[in-house]
Amino acid sequence: MTINRQWILRQRPIGDIEPGDLELVESPVPELQDGQILVRNVYLSLDPTNRIWMSDIDQYMPPVGVGDVMRGATIGVVEQSRNAAYAVGDAVTCFDGWQDYVVTGGAQVLPKGLPLPAYMSVMGATGATAYFGLLDVGKAKAGETVVVSAAAGAVGSIVGQIAKLKGCRVVGLAGSDEKCAYVVEKLGFDACINYKTEDLDAAFKTHCPDGIDVDFENAGGPILDAVMNNLAMNARIVVCGLIAQYNETGPVRGPDLTNVLMKRARIEGFIILDFLGRFEEYFAEMGPWLAQGKVVYDTTIVQGLENAVDALGLLFTGGNTGKLLVQISLEG
Ligand SMILES: NC(=O)c1ccc[n+]([C@@H]2O[C@H](COP(=O)([O-])OP(=O)(O)OC[C@H]3O[C@@H](n4cnc5c(N)ncnc54)[C@H](OP(=O)(O)O)[C@@H]3O)[C@@H](O)[C@H]2O)c1
Repeated sequence: MTINRQWILRQRPIGDIEPGDLELVESPVPELQDGQILVRNVYLSLDPTNRIWMSDIDQYMPPVGVGDVMRGATIGVVEQSRNAAYAVGDAVTCFDGWQDYVVTGGAQVLPKGLPLPAYMSVMGATGATAYFGLLDVGKAKAGETVVVSAAAGAVGSIVGQIAKLKGCRVVGLAGSDEKCAYVVEKLGFDACINYKTEDLDAAFKTHCPDGIDVDFENAGGPILDAVMNNLAMNARIVVCGLIAQYNETGPVRGPDLTNVLMKRARIEGFIILDFLGRFEEYFAEMGPWLAQGKVVYDTTIVQGLENAVDALGLLFTGGNTGKLLVQISLEG
């Protein structure tokens, strides 16, 4: 009888994960049925999002149930097979969680050629996160300045290297001088800021003198706060992760973009002056709507230029409905 050890979520952590939140339990590996394989897990991917999954917050997949095996991606080797699609010895990836063995009918067979950990980092979801986040969401272009938090980590280290390959100037943030040296010397970033010891605002002004075009945000909190003060015109903030917040129990320092992340929302500033050349497009569409009564409009008109200052106050007390105007003189 083969024994399987499984990490079970016993209670939802409050703040940092504490002993007792998860429990390692043993049980026999179940008998294989037709169509199933027995996988011996070799690598378990540990991800910041594991902490999110433990919480009962609104998120992008259901939280792990209390009493369930902790969710996680694994790479393992097929030890027994009753499924013709899998041979004993195949390396596969599964999503069945923190345990020694998986009995499953569905696992993805990995290609050969690279060390297995590569399929969990650069040639797996981690690398894809970096690639699509930077290029699809962030639309990073040659010549732009890209800032990457958690730059020495799994996603950040790939983001910065792709950005360099695409011709960007890349500035990382990491939590020690050793990591910063690694980020610059080994990964090839242009600069790296130790966010634990340096003045973030001053460092961004030094390393991003023309502002930040793309912020690949992995951290949130004070880093995001300082990033926001150093944006270039038409900057993009890619909200990939907010690790600074995952263990927080109190209010977050800096803007809380949790829901932007979970709902894949887009925040974008605009000034109408940017659309001056397209007003005719708008009038052409609105004119008929107005004529057909499909759109109505209201005005609140205050009489007398002398009342302009008081009238302005109406905007802040809600004293207007529709467009607030001051009538200075008669029309006729
Ligand atoms: N949106 C998605 O689909 C997606 C997919 C994968 C990952 N993510 C997110 O991407 C981020 C990075 O994930 P990863 O898997 O690559 O992990 P990782 O970067 O390998 O590990 C996390 C790193 O974050 C840094 N960190 C921890 N607390 C921090 C804080 N308060 N402020 C700044 N940095 C802090 C630490 O490095 P230092 O020593 O430098 O502090 C740590 O090594 C996470 O936010 C994660 O949730 C999102």
